[in-house]
Amino acid sequence: MDELRTKYLDAIAAAADETALEELRVQAVGKKGEVSLKMRELGKMTPEERQVAGPALNALKNEINSALAAKKVALADAALDARLATEWLDVTLPARNRRVGTIHPISQVTEEVTAIFADMGFAVAEGPQIETDWYNFDALNIPGHHPARAEMDTFYTHRADGDNRPPHVLRTHTSPVQIRSMEKTGAPIRIICPGRVYRADYDQTHTPMFHQVEGLALGKDISMANLKWVLEEFFSAFFGTDVKTRFRASHFPFTEPSAEVDIQCSWEGGTVKVGEGDDWLEVLGSGMVHPNVLKAGGIDPDEYQGFAFGMGIDRLAMLKYGIPDLRAFFDSDLRWLRHYGFASLDQPTLHGGLNR
Ligand code: DAH
Repeated sequence: MDELRTKYLDAIAAAADETALEELRVQAVGKKGEVSLKMRELGKMTPEERQVAGPALNALKNEINSALAAKKVALADAALDARLATEWLDVTLPARNRRVGTIHPISQVTEEVTAIFADMGFAVAEGPQIETDWYNFDALNIPGHHPARAEMDTFYTHRADGDNRPPHVLRTHTSPVQIRSMEKTGAPIRIICPGRVYRADYDQTHTPMFHQVEGLALGKDISMANLKWVLEEFFSAFFGTDVKTRFRASHFPFTEPSAEVDIQCSWEGGTVKVGEGDDWLEVLGSGMVHPNVLKAGGIDPDEYQGFAFGMGIDRLAMLKYGIPDLRAFFDSDLRWLRHYGFASLDQPTLHGGLNR
């Protein structure tokens, strides 16, 4: 037994790797290993002999197993030490260049518009993109039979068979937020609402999802003159140059009187320039809020009056930054985003200048 002990403990101590160690384990304590065979001989011994040899063999087996385990750990440690000695990382190397993302022109223009109107005392209001037909139409003085419903290319949600309630719609304009805001705060009120709107339309200047900004100002004596000043102030700040406006009589169910507003522009050289020349470009709808709309919002039309307007944010972005095709706005093409996008730390502010 002493011979066996010396033989295996020496061999284990000298083993060069895990394979050698495994071979030694099989030879010594495997099923047909030397120690195991010796244990089988216990059966042929007398009880007295067995009492001495049994525990001694067990102790030997345990000793060899412990030596094997300890050597295994030592080999792994040595391997790790060797790797640590050869593999290393130069943490002083300069980092690999990564491209920084950009702010989408829609987000940029929304921030610009918000900054300008905030300066004139307008707060930002929001509403849901999935609307009831009450908020999107009826409350805005557009009853069921009104042609404006058909003209808006509305997306309707699905109702289960037998459910005869009118379907919800994807809001076709930001005007329903007028009603929601009136309900929430009552008059007086001064808000803008930038947001997504939806219509089933698709060509170079139309996408099924686009963006509008709604404006609403109600008070005891707010007039059309205030509307004109606010809009001229806005366009001049937005385009960074004095912009003349032209009000054309028009019709919207939710305003009376109603006006479409054009801004001064030139088409010289095939590109449009805002704030110069003798041409006009239509950019928004507006008017004095219809008494029926005030009533729908819970406001007394004999006490309060005011103006509202709605314009396309995407359109403003195309005009200001010379972007020709609206569809590209929503293609998520990285080349386009890098070209037309804005630096993320370059927040638009009035004092910092909105133009670049
Ligand atoms: N909601 C209209 C549209 O989507 C735009 C509009 C016109 C909004 C006149 C108004 C308004 O607030 O007074 O075409």
